[in-house]
Amino acid sequence: MNIPFHRPNIPKNLDKINTDSIKSGWLTTGSQVLKFEKKLSNYLLYKHVVALSSCTAGLHLALVAKEFNKGDKFLAPALTFVSTIECGEYLGMSPVLIDCKKDGFLIDLNFIEDKIKRDTNIKAIIPMHYGGELNDMENIISIAEKYGLFVLEDAAHAVENSFNNKKEEYLNHAVAFSFYANKNITSAGEGGALATSNKKLAQKIKKLSLHGITKDGWNRYKKFGKWEYDITELGFKYNMTDVSASFALWQWQFLKKWQSSRKDIVKRYSKGLKDVEGIILPNIDQKHAMHLYVIRLNLELWQISRNDFIDKLNKKGIGLAVHYKPIHHLSFYKKMYKLKNDDYPRANELFNSIVSLPIYPLLTDKEVDYIIDCIKELFVKYSI
Ligand SMILES: Cc1ncc(COP(=O)(O)O)c(C=O)c1O
Repeated sequence: MNIPFHRPNIPKNLDKINTDSIKSGWLTTGSQVLKFEKKLSNYLLYKHVVALSSCTAGLHLALVAKEFNKGDKFLAPALTFVSTIECGEYLGMSPVLIDCKKDGFLIDLNFIEDKIKRDTNIKAIIPMHYGGELNDMENIISIAEKYGLFVLEDAAHAVENSFNNKKEEYLNHAVAFSFYANKNITSAGEGGALATSNKKLAQKIKKLSLHGITKDGWNRYKKFGKWEYDITELGFKYNMTDVSASFALWQWQFLKKWQSSRKDIVKRYSKGLKDVEGIILPNIDQKHAMHLYVIRLNLELWQISRNDFIDKLNKKGIGLAVHYKPIHHLSFYKKMYKLKNDDYPRANELFNSIVSLPIYPLLTDKEVDYIIDCIKELFVKYSI
């Protein structure tokens, strides 16, 4: 068998994504982006949504819009994708990394208040909803409120469920989503969005996403639009295109159906692997977006390492991943902030033992069963 780590859903008939705007020759930000933003806004329950070229762009723009500067710091997970950290680095901000909570993938909230009290340069918290598991935002926002910190959620994995966390009254807050190729919903490979209840922040982000221009192309060139524009601040080129939005709008109709398919896969893995002693299964509840299915190897029971485990399953035709190599293991950040391995024991322990299994709607029951059987076989052969 050949089972890739991910297979995207693409319409059989590509005409499905060739919308009127594209057929009429409008390819970049226009009516489809506006339609997609509206869909997101209704679903996410945030009044303001700005569609962007990536989640990384969203994280970056939110910090720029807040006018953070060199020397400002932010709290962020040690176990995350680099985007959660590099977005601050672009502005000269530096991360204060938080280790994972005991027996879990999310940041340990017991550490954060103490760090904030000890360092007045900490201006923001960037929690990440690992694999689709939600952080306790009620708690995070109440701490942020107490110290006047900006909260920026990295919800790259949590487009389905992030609204469960919403706290309408906190305006010093934004949420970034990813529509990258292997995310639950993709806008044809690259894309993202930023949601917030704060109108001013959203307007600023929208403007910054397109050079700081006073009038975007859609408004300048659509029927009888006037060409005149001005640039009022230093902006970026982070807008989403209509081609991307059309693809995302096609995918969006299947959001719930695909989530339900992933839920069935979670059930099948959990049932099939529950008696394998060498595997620790993830705790996935009903509120989980089920973007990742991450097992942990109980290394004391295996003769082989996590990397050997992956190599052996790769040889059986199974694509696997590791989410993530912690930030303090990445040479650039390790060197830049003199990060020490020993400061993040839980992230290290997870990193040595985690394996992400394939989970996507196009994965068949037969393929899931094959993956389960291969893991069982491996444990019989290599258990201590
Ligand atoms: C946790 C997390 N944050 C941010 C990103 C960045 O998303 P994008 O590729 O849309 O910038 C990713 C992408 O994989 C991610 O996994």
